[in-house]
Amino acid sequence: DKGNHRHFMLKEIYEQPVVVAQTLRSYVRRIDDQVSLPIPDFDLSAIRRVTIVACGTSFYAGMVAKYWFEQFARMPVDLDVASEFRYRAPVMEPEGGLALFISQSGETADTLAALRHARAEGQKIAVVVNVPTSSMAREADLLLPSHAGPEIGVASTKAFTCQLAVLAALVANVARAKGRLTPEEEKDIVRHLSEAPSAINQALAQDEAVQALAPLIVPARDVLYLGRGTDYPLALEGALKLKEISYIHAEGYAAGEMKHGPIALIDEAVPVIVIAPSGPLFEKTVSNMQEVQARGGKVVLISDEDGIAAAGEGCLATLALPKVHPLIAPMVYAVPVQLLAYHVAVIKGTDVDQPRNLAKSVTVE
Ligand code: M6R
Repeated sequence: DKGNHRHFMLKEIYEQPVVVAQTLRSYVRRIDDQVSLPIPDFDLSAIRRVTIVACGTSFYAGMVAKYWFEQFARMPVDLDVASEFRYRAPVMEPEGGLALFISQSGETADTLAALRHARAEGQKIAVVVNVPTSSMAREADLLLPSHAGPEIGVASTKAFTCQLAVLAALVANVARAKGRLTPEEEKDIVRHLSEAPSAINQALAQDEAVQALAPLIVPARDVLYLGRGTDYPLALEGALKLKEISYIHAEGYAAGEMKHGPIALIDEAVPVIVIAPSGPLFEKTVSNMQEVQARGGKVVLISDEDGIAAAGEGCLATLALPKVHPLIAPMVYAVPVQLLAYHVAVIKGTDVDQPRNLAKSVTVE
């Protein structure tokens, strides 16, 4: 049932504040301001290395988690797409090795095969999965459910933000187990995580602005998305979403990689979506953005009010999001890129919920 919405995708985008809150309820305890896991006796302190494997949008959630594990838990992380991982010869030490698989369906063939491969290599298996009865859920040592509810649209939206919520909590749990989090810092993280649903709501309030922008993107043949840090996986996610449902060619790039090739593509006909919240990486990304503008590129800047005040001039459009903690920013910044892909696709008249050539769950190689 789509409710009042025209498509499941839009309904699922709008469900995000509720389902993220629902997911977080299993991972944070407001009563004593602690993060927790559904399986409390799993020994996180023994983990020495994490190997993250997934496909598509779930892979981008894993990429965000890699940055978080490194920053907050000082944990070394390997990351790969499942179709590559299973045919490489990845080196995994059984001692202290945690392999983490992320999947909405829990049935993606490559991810499931990669899970079995990691198990054979002596890894402990953690799974972030949205379907609790799925194959991956059954094969996990540490089952970490995301409670997004059924996702019908082929384009993953609410499953992604709920995966991010689980992963943020997992990183905080590992950081604590590793002695890298003071009770004060933990309390602070719990408070920020609890604010995620309302921050996502504020991002949804940009829907009209995104809708107004969409007609300017529709004529494009190519669109670039740029970001740094955890905004790099968001750039990749934005590009995937646009390709998947609007059939416009799009690429996500690490902002600093622009001048190593893709800048040659820039002219007035190539919109560039720049994802850059204010913070330590802001200036760097803005200078990449200015290189684009100097070549006639049309920039859409997604940032917060400070970022837009500092660098919004000369942009085709700006979208202002709330200023939030780095552990929740990707959940908030996901919203405008989802909405942009959605509105562009609607104008183009594509089959938003069932894009051509795609299946919701890829159960064959
Ligand atoms: O069910 P999974 O999370 O394992 O699926 C992985 C990908 O097939 C999936 O995220 C795909 O990329 C989406 N259609 C993207 O919107």
